Amino acid sequence: MAFGKGSDLISVRDLEKKDFEELFKRARKCEEAVAKNRVKKVLEGRVVASLFFEPSTRTRLSSESAAQRLGARVIGFSGTEGTSIQKGETLADTVEMVDKYADAIFMRHPLEGSARLAAEVAESPVINCGDGANQHPTQTLLDLYTIKKEFGRIDGLEITLIGDLKYGRTVHSLALALNNYRIRLRFVSHASLQMPEYVKKEIRNPFIESARLDVRGCDVAYVTRIQKERFTDPMEYERVKGIYKITPRVLEGAKKDMIIMHPLPRVDEISKEVDSTPYARYFEQAENGLFARMAVLDAVING
Ligand code: NCD
Repeated sequence: MAFGKGSDLISVRDLEKKDFEELFKRARKCEEAVAKNRVKKVLEGRVVASLFFEPSTRTRLSSESAAQRLGARVIGFSGTEGTSIQKGETLADTVEMVDKYADAIFMRHPLEGSARLAAEVAESPVINCGDGANQHPTQTLLDLYTIKKEFGRIDGLEITLIGDLKYGRTVHSLALALNNYRIRLRFVSHASLQMPEYVKKEIRNPFIESARLDVRGCDVAYVTRIQKERFTDPMEYERVKGIYKITPRVLEGAKKDMIIMHPLPRVDEISKEVDSTPYARYFEQAENGLFARMAVLDAVING
């Protein structure tokens, strides 16, 4: 079934190329409408649930802002304090109830597969806002929307993914979604944080792996935070933290029109001085999250 009314968005595998292209078009319309303060309240009278079992700033606030700008009201929680989860309620029971109160559910949870479980329980569309180290499909939408806006295309680009490729759900989603385009990939990570085999097996674009930070020749340098919270061994984190840092020096020899992206939050992967270079796109990228999420929400509720 094509992506649209009633669809869940759990993985980027739920979207075909035409779905991505359609969502970019819708996101563009949302962006224009927001700029003109002329957003149609197509979700008037609707209620959207926002269930964030894990910390979030941008994803939660842009999802809630998306819902509200489209005229919906938002219920939910950020952190489980004050909810019955503290009393031992299961995820399935929580979702089953919320499903009755809301027309769509944004959910972030620390466990891989949690969003899929929620989608099985809920009749309302579930939008995965990150399930452990697995998937983060709305982030990928805004990432691709940002790239498309910048270059007018995605095909033909060289994209370098840098940092924690093992635990980073944003790069897992992005690398797989890029199967819909013909691009070249470079993976830069410490040997212990390489892109997992199960993702690599699914990647159809040519890729090379390297431990050396080099952004020369690429069009997009996509930087990620080392996902401290996913490490089982704190010593392991200590060994790899801070190994890659984008500084003005690293950018010497980069293509003139290269852009640096980062899903944020950054810790120390990109030095502050880079923010004022023409390469920095991470704050615009975060802004695009609003438009991408408006597009998704309208599509899954109204079709
Ligand atoms: C990312 C996430 O939660 O996976 N953040 C985000 O949604 N913008 C990246 C991260 O936390 O490092």
